[in-house]
Amino acid sequence: MITGSTNIAGLIGHPVEHSFSPPMHNSAFNALNMDWAYVAFDVDPLNLKSAIEGAKSLNIRGLNVTIPHKIEVMRYLDEIDEVAALIGAVNTIDFRNMKGYNTDGIGAVKAIEEVTSIKNRNVVVAGAGGASRAISFYIAKYGAESITILNRNVDKALNLANDINLIEDVKADSISQISNYIGDADILIDTTPVGMHPDVDADAIVSADDMHEDLVVFDAVYNPNETSLIKQAIKANAKPVYGIKMLLYQGAESFKIWTGQNPPVDVMEDALRKTLNLE
Ligand code: ATR
Repeated sequence: MITGSTNIAGLIGHPVEHSFSPPMHNSAFNALNMDWAYVAFDVDPLNLKSAIEGAKSLNIRGLNVTIPHKIEVMRYLDEIDEVAALIGAVNTIDFRNMKGYNTDGIGAVKAIEEVTSIKNRNVVVAGAGGASRAISFYIAKYGAESITILNRNVDKALNLANDINLIEDVKADSISQISNYIGDADILIDTTPVGMHPDVDADAIVSADDMHEDLVVFDAVYNPNETSLIKQAIKANAKPVYGIKMLLYQGAESFKIWTGQNPPVDVMEDALRKTLNLE
């Protein structure tokens, strides 16, 4: 129940009405009997500065930030977490100190670490956009042995590879060469929208024939749950990691930042699955 002392967290983006974060966070607050509520706010880019100032004045405790505000919002914060600064985008604000964080990459890392450790692994990342940037920096931070970034636009892959100077072995190449890199890879991370609803029948970026049984295959796409790439991974007897897990763990990290408490991850996952009609 909303009371006179309810703490408010939320999401700003444009649009936001299809977000899965409100049911995920509110289920966690309910399960822990916390006097908190999570609300989605549709903020026009022209009003971003006043939205942040207004949220601060209203004592809103924390916000998630999504498209199109993740980069622009950094101008209005007092402090940026070290890795969020390297990534160049913020998806979580803690209003106690007006500090910005990026939990997208750590969400992917935690999802993958349900299946395998990232330390000393050879990782291939497909795509070189915003999601790839967030994930690749965290993969480096968690001690990957090598990262190979593959993209249609090779210059973008090269730029990202140059920026990731946390580890030595970072390469870039065309995504058309992917089959040459998969044999030696331990982990494949697909950050491209290939296979995303409604293009669910699009050919996966790599087929089962090129995969091996020890390969961990993570697709950041969560709609559909079982993408064409995940289908290929299952066919190859490789180890699939579903995009829903990244959504879950980025939310869990934000929850920790705002409340200082460990969230009930299983409750949050159930809420996500229900919202995504997976049950
Ligand atoms: P996001 O924030 O989700 O990462 P983005 O910044 O627009 O979105 O990046 C999308 C990434 O997916 C890019 O790396 C893009 O490749 P290009 O830089 O060459 O455009 C990649 N991508 C998009 N559609 C693709 C497709 N059909 N095949 C392969 N890569 C694709």
